[in-house]
Amino acid sequence: MSKIFLGYTSLSGRNEIVAKHLASYLEEKGVEVVLDQLVDADAFDLPEYDAVIIETYTYNDGEIPEEAQDFFEDLQDVDLAKTKFAVLGVSSKSHIHFGRAVDYFTMEMNSSNGDQVADSVKINEYPDDDDYARVHQLADYVLKSLN
Ligand SMILES: Cc1cc2nc3c(=O)[nH]c(=O)nc-3n(C[C@H](O)[C@H](O)[C@H](O)COP(=O)(O)O)c2cc1C
Repeated sequence: MSKIFLGYTSLSGRNEIVAKHLASYLEEKGVEVVLDQLVDADAFDLPEYDAVIIETYTYNDGEIPEEAQDFFEDLQDVDLAKTKFAVLGVSSKSHIHFGRAVDYFTMEMNSSNGDQVADSVKINEYPDDDDYARVHQLADYVLKSLN
């Protein structure tokens, strides 16, 4: 059975809700999902997984949340050559640099030789049906990459 790591950050809970929804969607399709907050996760464990999904909010004018900084910095020293990945995040268009943390993770995981299998998804504040359709599409691309 394929094993997917789904790591997220969430302060007010929107990303946590989407992450849990995404985990259930993937599990229903028959894969094992390890769901964890990035603050508790070790980037050096990522090569053990068949695929990695990172979900994060953006904070303080386009920054990666502080609790994800260590994980992000460690990513630079991890070889993701055999790792499929995708990135998404709920943030807010009312701030400048909408969803910039999603861009930072996407760039960093590509720099670490990861194999990006879906376009990154940015969601504005309250996920609606169209947003969930994009989340499912991202999940479907990840699943397809495992076959
Ligand atoms: C102080 C503060 C700064 C923020 N800065 C940004 C930002 O620079 N860019 C952005 O897209 N969203 C920004 N946001 C919006 C959050 O990313 C958004 O509220 C998101 O839903 C938080 O995720 P969560 O609900 O999972 O905690 C900011 C929010 C706060 C409270």
